[in-house]
Amino acid sequence: MKILFICLGNICRSPLAEEMFRQKVKEARADHRFSLIDSAGMIGYHEGELADARMRTHAAERGLHLTHRSRPMTAKDFELFDVIVAMDEDNLRRLRQKAPRPELMKKVVLLADYLTRFPSHRHIPDPYYGQAEDFRLVIDLCEDACQRLLDALTDKG
Ligand code: 4NP
Repeated sequence: MKILFICLGNICRSPLAEEMFRQKVKEARADHRFSLIDSAGMIGYHEGELADARMRTHAAERGLHLTHRSRPMTAKDFELFDVIVAMDEDNLRRLRQKAPRPELMKKVVLLADYLTRFPSHRHIPDPYYGQAEDFRLVIDLCEDACQRLLDALTDKG
């Protein structure tokens, strides 16, 4: 299975979700189930950049080392990946515009739909203009949802 995490800039939420999911896969010894775990953004403003320094700092506190370089999502990604994981409704709108064929939207899921401990959250909120607690919330939400997403994509789902 090939899985792609999507956010707007690909410097905060999706690189974190990508690494969180990779850690969960490793913990579950499910490496053989995933041939590709990646992330991309709906805009290319930050292309080539490492994740936002604040995100990297907060992630490192949880043992996650973000080495991904931002890249914009391409039409080819729609064909290549089996599962495309969006963070919010704006991502979904942009994905619908970008989909080379409407049926490719069947591959797209919303990460917040896999939350178990945060029932009031309907999306993973953009922390870019936020404070430290907003970055920590993204990590907490991604940790919860990535576990449930992994369970759903493997036998435990
Ligand atoms: P992300 O956060 O989508 O979680 O990577 C953002 C990063 C950059 C911008 C917006 C959101 N920006 O507008 O540059």
